[in-house]
Amino acid sequence: MSGESNGKLTEAATVKKMELIPEIKFTKLFINGQFVDSVSGKTFETIDPRTGDVITKVAQGIKEDIDLAVQAARDAFDDGPWPRLSGANVQLYNVYADDQQRRRILMKLADLIDANAEELAALDAIDGGKLFHDGKNIDIPGAAETFRYYAGVADKIHGETLKMSREFQAYTLREPIGVVGHIIPWNFPTQMFAMKVGPALAAGCTMIVKPAEQTPLSALYCAHLTKLAGIPDGAVNVVTGYGPVAGAAISSHMDIDKVSFTGSTEVGRLVMQAAAMSNLKQVSLELGGKSPVIIFDDAELDKAVDLALLGSLYNKAKICVAGSRVFVQEGIYVEFVKKLEEKVRLWVVGDPFDVDSQQGPQVEKKQFEKILSYIEHGKREGATLLAGGKRFGQKGFYIQPTIFTDVKDDMIIAKEEIFGPVMSVLKFKTTGEVIRRANATKYGLAAGVITNNLDTANTVSRSIRAGVIWINCYFAFDRDSPYGGYKMSGFGRDMGIDGLDKYLHAKSVATPIYNSPWL
Ligand code: NAI
Ligand code: MG
Repeated sequence: MSGESNGKLTEAATVKKMELIPEIKFTKLFINGQFVDSVSGKTFETIDPRTGDVITKVAQGIKEDIDLAVQAARDAFDDGPWPRLSGANVQLYNVYADDQQRRRILMKLADLIDANAEELAALDAIDGGKLFHDGKNIDIPGAAETFRYYAGVADKIHGETLKMSREFQAYTLREPIGVVGHIIPWNFPTQMFAMKVGPALAAGCTMIVKPAEQTPLSALYCAHLTKLAGIPDGAVNVVTGYGPVAGAAISSHMDIDKVSFTGSTEVGRLVMQAAAMSNLKQVSLELGGKSPVIIFDDAELDKAVDLALLGSLYNKAKICVAGSRVFVQEGIYVEFVKKLEEKVRLWVVGDPFDVDSQQGPQVEKKQFEKILSYIEHGKREGATLLAGGKRFGQKGFYIQPTIFTDVKDDMIIAKEEIFGPVMSVLKFKTTGEVIRRANATKYGLAAGVITNNLDTANTVSRSIRAGVIWINCYFAFDRDSPYGGYKMSGFGRDMGIDGLDKYLHAKSVATPIYNSPWL
């Protein structure tokens, strides 16, 4: 399928997609190691964004289902084998120490994810509109590697020995935080599952995962794989359902110790409020963004254009770190815009199963309409529409890659997270000016800096208030590299060792060295 100028989806893609539609095997809640109906018996429909058709009905979890899942996770934490690092259940674990066993099970889970990469990628493609080939070759193997990364630290969780100011010796223990509630979004369903579940399991926590209602299928499939890998019953539970019901039951639960949330800033605020009003559970939030990509006059033009396109269109821009504000220095502005116009024409929108597609449909009708309404705002506010600006094709939730130039800082399209394939190009003169303008946002998730000048790169990197800076690259994600927000993009880090730490408590243990006179 070719670019937006074609205007409609081709037959070839329609035929190709049929061959790869996976059989849907798991649609029930996964609680205490079993797939079960919801307490109410209710279900909800999950939709294929390529067509708007119903794929299947999935169990609709409500508060009572969350209660059952929390009870299972609580029992697995308080009495089960998973959190115990040594001593207990030696017979069960045979010759391996428990922490090594945890590592081995996580490695097995990673292998199972790899072995089922095609099926998982297909589920994310039909449920979330994600590119099948990227899923099979990059996203799903990446999720497996995330489990391996955290498997590798499961037996290396150390405290410290402390030199106290009095006659004591003390040390810290790093203990699992307890029962975790993960509330996850629809933009990277399987990867997000790995990013949250991997470190929490490595830490020794037990958990409930609430996938987004738009993309419940791969999380249920992963639940099945956790069982095959040997993760004890109750350690990982998956409850599908709606955010304001099942999600809210997690954030307000009295027996959950931590909630790890990724999603919108508005819901992040609700989650934090619910945590405060219930049991003061710990919270980490990975929220929205409006990340700048700053391109200086000395940048290599082709590379800069490619990075700007990647930053704002990759994954249909359904990515919190999307580089949706592209600041271009005045010396190359005209040339940059010309090249951008040429290159965006080659960007391929199409069925996510088509090997040539670079951009599939938006996840759902609501998001699709929201993005189109932002595009209308851009037109009304007087930005120049360089490319796109409309839906793509007649069916499903596809949107043309859209670029606005001559964008001003106070336009809505420059301020709000669009979460769709819409780039805003803004002109700047000086380094000081662009730093100030790039920082003039309530968000602070990521930034790109494109320059060959080391001083410029260093100055900008240190001045931008965001959790990740990519110099002469974009989306340079790595499981060893933590990411997360400044400001209203949230707090707490995913990935890297920081991503493990957020599921651990430090406990201090002190003991006298000798009989101190005041003891
Ligand atoms: P959302 O924040 O509503 O959904 C994320 C998760 O939160 C889902 O699992 C949802 O079921 C759950 N949720 C919703 N309401 C809840 C509540 N009251 N209590 C607890 N959990 C709740 O995001 P939505 O509506 O799907 O997307 C809206 C916007 O959010 C997007 O347009 C985008 O701007 C942003 N977003 C950011 C993401 C990121 O990666 N940071 C991911 C998804 C959305
Ligand atoms: Mg869906």
